[in-house]
Amino acid sequence: MFAKKDNLLGLDVGSHSVKMLQLKLKDGSFHLAGLGLAPLPREAFSEGRVNQPELVANRIKTLFKNLKLKGKLVAAGVSGYDVMIKKIEVPAMSEKELDNRMQSELGQYIPYRIEEVDVDYQIMDLVKDSPNSMEVLLVAAKKESVSEHVNMVRQSNMSTQVMDVDFFALNNAFETTYGVSDGTVALLDIGSHKAIMNIMIQNLTPYTRALSIGGSQITDAIKDRFKLTFDEAERMKLGYIPNKYSKEELQEIVSSVIRNWISEFKRVIDFYLTNYPHRDIEKIYLSGGSCRIPGLKKVFHEHMDIDVDIFNPLNKINYDSKAFDPAYLDYIGPQMAISLGLALRKAG
Ligand SMILES: Nc1ncnc2c1ncn2[C@@H]1O[C@H](COP(=O)(O)OP(=O)(O)OP(=O)(O)O)[C@@H](O)[C@H]1O
Ligand SMILES: [Mg+2]
Repeated sequence: MFAKKDNLLGLDVGSHSVKMLQLKLKDGSFHLAGLGLAPLPREAFSEGRVNQPELVANRIKTLFKNLKLKGKLVAAGVSGYDVMIKKIEVPAMSEKELDNRMQSELGQYIPYRIEEVDVDYQIMDLVKDSPNSMEVLLVAAKKESVSEHVNMVRQSNMSTQVMDVDFFALNNAFETTYGVSDGTVALLDIGSHKAIMNIMIQNLTPYTRALSIGGSQITDAIKDRFKLTFDEAERMKLGYIPNKYSKEELQEIVSSVIRNWISEFKRVIDFYLTNYPHRDIEKIYLSGGSCRIPGLKKVFHEHMDIDVDIFNPLNKINYDSKAFDPAYLDYIGPQMAISLGLALRKAG
């Protein structure tokens, strides 16, 4: 009954690696308790779904043990691909009245069979120009995806206390670092097989999209061009380039994939601008493991008229420099954005 509402262990299960981060609140500010990642073999995932849950659960268990973290209560996040986020407008009413109304009307807002999704909603605000209406944020996540996460966490002898969505986790990480932005900024977290994109418009609900772009596309392009295995190509991408290969040619392969990413990204921005014509994006923040690709910022600068920066959510988190190497935190920080956003959640 008097259990402390401690921060949870943020767990981000990606197709390239499992990432874990824990914070502790001390004197009103966040301190880093621990963080780390464990790479996954490629066969652990297939088409965005966990293919080998026991293997992933084992990696989670080992990582947790190696990091010597405390507490086994987890905040995990489902992927934006498995989630529908929708804003609806209803007459102003109490939370209780909304609960009753939702029980009978939920089906009409959701394009899935109700028994296939877990649904949650939250009252956001009164609608500005019609004070008798309020805005409700509806989130429906595929039950399959939620239970996949919950089961893996259970198999690693931990328990899921909060199930979040990666979009919201990225947002929370950003707001904790930079506060609510005055203007409009775009966050783009580029992983291995997907990217999460949020356009944050002051304190409105963010505009979100999942894009099927990611670092494995670069590895595949290198692999095909130089007739290598995936692992050899991955090493080349990370900068271990045998003498017989041309660095210029490699850079051109990388740039060409990044240009495709930028086209996808621009398409979403154009679509967003048709809905919010006067809210130009002032800055783009990149995160995820693939934001470390050399030359990424440069290609963005060449093809977009918007300022680009790397988002490292650890910049504003206190840590003990005897326990954590600042250079490592600088390197790993952007890849931990979603796990940090999850770690901000509290039980209860
Ligand atoms: N130094 C680097 N240079 C280039 N790419 C890198 C570097 N470090 C990591 N990456 C790439 O980052 C990707 C992994 O990033 P991340 O951990 O964010 O992905 P993930 O969350 O596991 O995947 P996803 O979210 O797509 O399922 C891989 O494609 C990896 O090759
Ligand atoms: Mg990821």
